[in-house]
Amino acid sequence: MSFRFEGYVIVSADGMLADASHVMPDSLKFEGDKLFFEQALDRAGLIVHGRHSHEGQPNSSKRKRLILTRRSKALTVDPEVPNATLWNPAHASFEEACAFADVTSGTVAIIGGPDVFDMFMDRYDTFWLSEAPRVRLPGGEGCFVGVPARTPHEVLAAHGMTRGSPFVLDAAHDVTVTPWRRAG
Ligand SMILES: NC(=O)c1ccc[n+]([C@@H]2O[C@H](COP(=O)([O-])OP(=O)(O)OC[C@H]3O[C@@H](n4cnc5c(N)ncnc54)[C@H](OP(=O)(O)O)[C@@H]3O)[C@@H](O)[C@H]2O)c1
Repeated sequence: MSFRFEGYVIVSADGMLADASHVMPDSLKFEGDKLFFEQALDRAGLIVHGRHSHEGQPNSSKRKRLILTRRSKALTVDPEVPNATLWNPAHASFEEACAFADVTSGTVAIIGGPDVFDMFMDRYDTFWLSEAPRVRLPGGEGCFVGVPARTPHEVLAAHGMTRGSPFVLDAAHDVTVTPWRRAG
C-alpha cells in the first residue's frame, strides 16, 4: 500500500474548528474555502473522519470513507452512509481498514475532528490549514489536541511540518489556506 496523506481544516484566529457546543458555526463557513475543500475531496481516493465530521457535500455519497467510531469493534460496512466503512482503530490498523474498504493507493484526506487529526500527525505529507483571522470562538473546540495551549502552527511545526506560501480563499474576510509540508 502506498498513500499520500493530506489534512484539511479551517480554524478561527484562536485555533478553533468548532464553537463551545462542538458545532462548526456559520461564521467559520466561507464560499472560497468550501470550494477549495470540495475540489480537494473530489481528488482524494479515501476520506477519513470521526463520527461528527462528515463533510455533507453534493459528491459525498460517491466518496470512499473510513468513519472512526468506538461503537463497533469489527470493521463494518456502514449501513447508513454510502461507501463508508466503520473503523475502530483500537481493533484494526489503518492498513486493515483500507484493505477492507478495497483502497490500496492514492491520496487520503483526513478531515477531523481533533483526535483524528492527531492520529495522523506524523504521517501528513501536506496539511492544508485554512485560517479565518477575523473570527474568534472563545471556549471553542481546538483544531488539534493541545490547542489553544499551543497554536496550530506550533503543533504542525512540532511534527516536522514547514509553512508554505498562503493562498487567498476569501479576500473580503482575509481567509487564506497555507500548505504545511513535511520537510524532506
Ligand atoms: N472547522 C473545520 O474545518 C472542521 C473540521 C472537522 C470537524 N469540524 C467540526 O468540529 C466538530 C468535531 O466534532 P468532534 O470533536 O466530536 O470530532 P469527530 O472526530 O468528528 O467525532 C468524534 C467521534 O468520532 C469517533 N472517534 C474519534 N476519534 C476516535 C478514535 N480514536 N477511535 C474511535 N472513534 C473515534 C467517536 O465516535 P463514537 O461516538 O461513535 O465512538 C467520537 O465520539 C464538529 O462540529 C465538526 O463539524 C470542523
